[in-house]
Amino acid sequence: MTEQQLKELLADMSLEEKIGQLLQLTGNFFDGDGLATGPMQDMNLTQETVNNTGSVLTTVGAAKIRKIQTEYMKHQPHGIPMIFMADIINGFRTVFPIPLAQGCSFDPEEVEEMAAVAAKESARTGLHVTFSPMVDLVRDARWGRVMESTGEDVYLNGRLAEAMVKGYQGEGIGKKDKISACVKHFAGYGAPIAGRDYNTVEVSERTLREEILPGYKAALDADARMFMTSFNTLGRIPSSANKELCRDILRKEWGFDGILISDWAAIKEIIFHGVAEDDEAAAVLALEAGVDIDMMTNVYCNHLKSAIEKGKISVELLDESVYRILQFKNELGLFENPFKDADEDYDEQAEIPAEHRALARKAAADSFVLLKNEDEILPLTKDDSSKTIAFVGPYMEEKKVCGSWSLFYKEEECVTLSKALQEMSMQTKYTISRGCNTLGYGKSSDGFTGHIESNVTLEELAQMEQEAIANAKKADVVVMALGEYFNETGEAGSKTEITIPEHQLELFRKIVDVNPNVVVVNFSGRPLDLREVDRKAKAILQVWFPGTEAGHAIMDVLFGDVAPGGRLSMSFPYNVGQVPVFYSELHTGRRYVEGSDNRFCSRYLDAPNKPLFVFGYGLDYTTYAYENISLNQNTLKAGEGITVSVDVINTGKRKGTEVVQMYIQDLVGSVARPVRELKGFQKITLEPGERKTVQFVITEEMLRFYDVSMQYTSEAGAFKVFVGGSSDAQLEQDFVLSK
Ligand code: GLC
Repeated sequence: MTEQQLKELLADMSLEEKIGQLLQLTGNFFDGDGLATGPMQDMNLTQETVNNTGSVLTTVGAAKIRKIQTEYMKHQPHGIPMIFMADIINGFRTVFPIPLAQGCSFDPEEVEEMAAVAAKESARTGLHVTFSPMVDLVRDARWGRVMESTGEDVYLNGRLAEAMVKGYQGEGIGKKDKISACVKHFAGYGAPIAGRDYNTVEVSERTLREEILPGYKAALDADARMFMTSFNTLGRIPSSANKELCRDILRKEWGFDGILISDWAAIKEIIFHGVAEDDEAAAVLALEAGVDIDMMTNVYCNHLKSAIEKGKISVELLDESVYRILQFKNELGLFENPFKDADEDYDEQAEIPAEHRALARKAAADSFVLLKNEDEILPLTKDDSSKTIAFVGPYMEEKKVCGSWSLFYKEEECVTLSKALQEMSMQTKYTISRGCNTLGYGKSSDGFTGHIESNVTLEELAQMEQEAIANAKKADVVVMALGEYFNETGEAGSKTEITIPEHQLELFRKIVDVNPNVVVVNFSGRPLDLREVDRKAKAILQVWFPGTEAGHAIMDVLFGDVAPGGRLSMSFPYNVGQVPVFYSELHTGRRYVEGSDNRFCSRYLDAPNKPLFVFGYGLDYTTYAYENISLNQNTLKAGEGITVSVDVINTGKRKGTEVVQMYIQDLVGSVARPVRELKGFQKITLEPGERKTVQFVITEEMLRFYDVSMQYTSEAGAFKVFVGGSSDAQLEQDFVLSK
């Protein structure tokens, strides 16, 4: 449609029809099973309202979506098609590593590739929008939704948010096999007090601007066409009612002209926050803030009309939102083709495309982080018939390895460790025994995919444990596949204890008692307190929730076909008492130097300040040295750049890929500045013994921050640059910025 036609359409729509465009419902309202009773009654919706709905969420299936769209358009007064949206967070049918794991790849190109595959599979199932990327900055492992983010670092989050948006949207959301991104949760949802989901967020304007907003802005700069408001308050204002955030910053300052959708029921929740006395007041606040779509409540559809008729809000403001929604549908090409790329044949093909599996397998290995490898116990050997490996642990057979936001995959298409192992041909002998179940005796778990019971008896557990211990005794090496249950993280997954489940640790203790050569493969959606495992195991491979190709990728890395490629996207705390813990903290006025016995510093009496494993850390199957750091000049002027060079050498016996990281420290500012900040990274591959000179260019823009007057600027003065293989990089050089 042309702009003129869109304008004429808007002018011809009734008030009820316009308001209907702002409503989003789940698909069950449209699959014709006599809804006037159930959901419609619950939400006090009329059939006319349902006939005017603008969009649908969480319904997938090319045939089903075609059917719903076809039926729906017969009743919509102008035949306006609906938009279909869903949470495709780390893949649709082919499931990739959870985003926190993808963050460990430090590989924007690979992240973009995964998003493009997710977009194709989603488009073919009939979807037009994914509620991704989730760009919330996370530093508190108690919060369950850390698994959906790409970690604690502002710079890394921004690069990967860009990559996801480009992968989803390509050259435009109307293009074949492309879908719209939806950047969430705007804003600051990742910093709830005490790590408790949906809780209050209290951050300074400076922290908001300097650390929390840049990720969302990076996604917008990559042309994200949709944003989603967050559940939390920011400055004690619920985001869905926050005009300063959603109109002044997002739309006026940043120039966003796409759709702003609320999170699920977030408009209604303005009332529960105590910021609106009733639905009508909530509707007015949200529309004034510029929220275009009301996800799954009747606040807009049942209360905007009265608010307009009472003059509490202008019809022009409503028209603004309706027009944005019509433009968005037009961008998708839905007026010409309301089914876009829906393709039953593709959607229902018997197998996952081989190239998608291959990408999932590679990306999983690139996301694994080798946290410990004492005596180089890894990689294991396949070719020694005199050796036996005991594979023990519930994750040997566990199919739920895709994280808690994988809603549409087929479990039977996931490769377990056991299946992958049994496919391998090797001389080395092995045994497989679960030892216990993943959930634990008598436990149950609830999440988006329903209620799950731990269906194992005490007798069965005793037998499983006995078999595992017996196998471990006879083995040369034990590989233990352990970890938290997939539903232990994700939405509403906050926890005050962040260790591997106790029943699994009990098994771990019994195994290490009979065999000291234990390798732990740890599954989790958050950093865990791994102190005990770190003390007693010889090696730890952090695999997060790897997705469809979990088993293949883990065996590839355990046996050395592929090296673990990940570097931590989020610090692993020494214990839960440390969180929130992150590398780019401020000095404080009482800097504590680890090991000092000075009590009166910013420190704990019962724990170190340092996390157990720092941001950016990860071992490889080879080793690296960093030498000869140098600058081409030591004074930086605006408009110029300083080139920092460093030699990286592969000092081991295997080819390897290193993530070379560059951090900058501003020694003195008009406000306190972080001890260091990541400003660049490069992945380089080196043959054994090979040396490469890696260069980064430092620019004045990299040094900008919000100064004491809240001006975004850089300040003349002294700086340090560090280059190395983690946020602990020690190789440094000094330079000054002159202005
Ligand atoms: C959920 C989540 C949000 C998701 C939305 C739709 O409550 O907070 O991330 O996209 O609802 O499922």
